[in-house]
Amino acid sequence: MVIDHVGQDPQDEVAARFAGKIDRSKVVQQTAEGVWLVLGHPEAVQLLRDRTVSSMTRKPGPGIWEQVSSRFFMFKDAQQHMRLRRMVGDCFTPARLAELKAGIRQATRDRLDRLDEVASAGGRQSDIMETVAYPVASDAICRLLGVSPVEGAFLGEWAVSLSRHTSDEQFNRSADEILAFFQEQLSAHREAPGGSGLLPIMAERAAAAGIDDDELLATCILLLVAGFETSANFFGNMLLSLLWRRDRFERLVADEALVAPAIEELLRLHSPAHVVMRRTTGDTVVGDTVIPAEAQVAVLLGLCNRDPRVFDDPDAYRLDRASNPHLSFSQGPHYCVGASLARVELEAMLRAVLDRLPLLSLRTEQPLRWSGRFLGRGLDRLEVLAS
Ligand code: HEM
Repeated sequence: MVIDHVGQDPQDEVAARFAGKIDRSKVVQQTAEGVWLVLGHPEAVQLLRDRTVSSMTRKPGPGIWEQVSSRFFMFKDAQQHMRLRRMVGDCFTPARLAELKAGIRQATRDRLDRLDEVASAGGRQSDIMETVAYPVASDAICRLLGVSPVEGAFLGEWAVSLSRHTSDEQFNRSADEILAFFQEQLSAHREAPGGSGLLPIMAERAAAAGIDDDELLATCILLLVAGFETSANFFGNMLLSLLWRRDRFERLVADEALVAPAIEELLRLHSPAHVVMRRTTGDTVVGDTVIPAEAQVAVLLGLCNRDPRVFDDPDAYRLDRASNPHLSFSQGPHYCVGASLARVELEAMLRAVLDRLPLLSLRTEQPLRWSGRFLGRGLDRLEVLAS
């Protein structure tokens, strides 16, 4: 049985409500609280590429998480940023990505078998976030790092528990556990060098690059928090949009050549990461506006992706866009270092779904529940029918 939905995609409603609160005639503007907003595409590109603009928006504090996250290269500038980013970026070779793609596709098929087993056993409905999105995204990060998925089975749970931040006690416990886990993995790789994945490579190269263990552990945690939930959330956002308007899903089942442009178009419209923060270090010209020194700037990537000066019919899902220069992976020196992996991962996951469950549909009797996590917009649950 296939269920058809009518009406506006709920994600478009969320986007429209958000956009309605902002004066879209001013592509650079200041809020009453003093934060500068950039919502024009060319202006965002200009700001994000400006090397005088800082990503050091975090102040180190006494808590364990504040200490660890203040070492993330995402929040560093210039040389401090590049020495860590380069070490990670060098590991995303085409050969490594091809290896990861095959593994992720197989992991998705295995999880989809479980979803199908539930349907065959009469259960029919299943939460695809829990059954597929989270386990596959966690498996992908384990493969990337070179941690066995069995040993790393808790990584996803820890990452979710950090981003949900239900209590300080639980938050600190998860942060402690993740640190201890990566410390153990690092020691094991030092005792027995070799093996594939980022961890053994980083363990081997760090000393020569002047990178200490605290920075190395923080980098592993950054990859986990930046790479796990974004991909899982986007997989849910993407499926919701394709299944809500099932003709979209059916077109991809019929012609898999459309998978790659569909992912780009959905990244443009429904990315989990809507905003990146910056700080100006001097007077900074953005378009026609001068943002003063030491200002906090929020670049609203989701709105830049709907800038009518760059995208025709910007609120529409269109597979025939000649070019799609969306900013969902940002721009400039902090452009998402995992973008190539994210594309490989999402394509492998979506292709496995189209092959294995072409009759998949939404079960939307329950209202959709959006999570209030700090790492972006995503669904807590997405109930589907396998056939
Ligand atoms: C749909 C999936 C993803 C989205 C939408 C996304 C989005 C982003 C965005 C917007 C930034 C830029 C932050 C800024 O400009 O300050 C970023 C940076 C980053 N992302 Fe992703 N990301 C995704 C997947 C991944 C994956 C799979 C990984 C790694 C395994 C990853 C690792 C990182 C890291 C380490 C940074 C920091 C880069 C730097 O500061 O140089 N991301 N991501």
